[in-house]
Amino acid sequence: MKFFVDTADVDEIRELAATGLLDGVTTNPSLVAKSGRPFLEVIREICEIVDGPVSAEVTATDHSTMLSEGRKLAQLAGNVAVKVPLTPDGLKTCRALADDGVMVNVTLCFSPSQSILAAKAGAAFVSPFIGRLDDISRDGMGLIADIRMIYDNYEEFATEILVASIRSPNHVAEAAKIGADVATIPPGVIRQLFNHPLTDKGLDAFLADWARTGQSILDA
Ligand code: E4P
Repeated sequence: MKFFVDTADVDEIRELAATGLLDGVTTNPSLVAKSGRPFLEVIREICEIVDGPVSAEVTATDHSTMLSEGRKLAQLAGNVAVKVPLTPDGLKTCRALADDGVMVNVTLCFSPSQSILAAKAGAAFVSPFIGRLDDISRDGMGLIADIRMIYDNYEEFATEILVASIRSPNHVAEAAKIGADVATIPPGVIRQLFNHPLTDKGLDAFLADWARTGQSILDA
């Protein structure tokens, strides 16, 4: 499973990239607004830090302007994945950009039938938002299972399932059990993935016992 981080905060991205665990980045207009920085400058900077796909979202809603925006974003760096919403104009734009050889991430997917459209439009990634479905008492993880089943039924569907709107370490583990291709995870949740009280307790005990031996590996 590939790990993307869901943020436009360059400092966070730099820190997480240094762990060697990061395969890509997703941003959206809300995350860019939160960063308080100029959009294109932030995307350029992120693309210099991370080799993998960096999602940058168009903000127009009509096909022609979306296509111009998408082409402009794609020119920023070779690893930009243009993000388009799952609307008729968005999918038309997805097809045109995919035909240009540009990676497209179709975002705001909330149903299995929508995921079929994204695959047919040639999306490199589809982003089902599981947390937002859970928020309205729907089954976010069930959507991932449904999309996995559908995509596995058709060899020609090459679209990767990019699980989005992740809220907890359990979301990541459950999505991996289903076989999702990518999880895009907020920085705080990536840090939570490391945590287990028995890891801390076990390490404390090992270190205390080791100290009693008076030995040092480097001095031996
Ligand atoms: C994905 O690409 C989106 O940026 C993101 O996962 C949305 O998450 P949210 O529902 O927590 O805003």
